[in-house]
Amino acid sequence: MRVIAICGSPRKDGNSTILAQEVLKGAAEAGATTDIFLANDLKMRGCQGCEACNENGHCIQKDDMTALYGEIEKADAVVFASPVYMFGMTGQLKLVLDRLYAYLGADFKSSLPKGKKVGLVFTQGMPDVKGFAPYFDSVGHVLKMLGFEKPESILVGAGLGAAGGAAEKKELLDSARALGKRLVS
Ligand SMILES: Cc1cc2nc3c(=O)[nH]c(=O)nc-3n(C[C@H](O)[C@H](O)[C@H](O)COP(=O)(O)O)c2cc1C
Repeated sequence: MRVIAICGSPRKDGNSTILAQEVLKGAAEAGATTDIFLANDLKMRGCQGCEACNENGHCIQKDDMTALYGEIEKADAVVFASPVYMFGMTGQLKLVLDRLYAYLGADFKSSLPKGKKVGLVFTQGMPDVKGFAPYFDSVGHVLKMLGFEKPESILVGAGLGAAGGAAEKKELLDSARALGKRLVS
């Protein structure tokens, strides 16, 4: 069992990355091997809309996303983690999401091997934990269309500002570890 996390925060010690690490800790405790990828460190461009993937089944851009496709294909579960930036995920993670378009054929059927579980982790400054719920749900729908399972759960860290704040929230960390364990069960 392999669980990976793809994190969208540009802050290496950011709240969403702390929570993603905690999810991976829970998964590792349940026996998984894990790895973490920071979208901000990847040298990659966004989807160019060339539709070459529709012809040959894969993206023709050769950059850091090439290896990440392989990591996603090998994984049994993928955690997508991001702070909310302007009511959505960060641009860094959105680049990755757009590049997953390569898995869709012209008929919008996905070539991604089926059965991969998903964990979604978002952090936000807004204290209302439900403030962006429709957006988080819609990310889950997009991932489902891309061939992932319906998200195992959507963990939201609300009211978080300074980097590192999530490390003080025991309940949130516990929920993150529990999510990691569920991804492995
Ligand atoms: C450019 C930018 C845009 C943001 N937009 C929002 C927003 O729309 N709603 C919100 O609740 N918080 C917003 N925030 C606050 C972050 O979501 C919050 O601080 C989060 O905990 C940061 O996560 P990180 O530590 O993983 O980077 C924004 C922060 C930045 C820097």
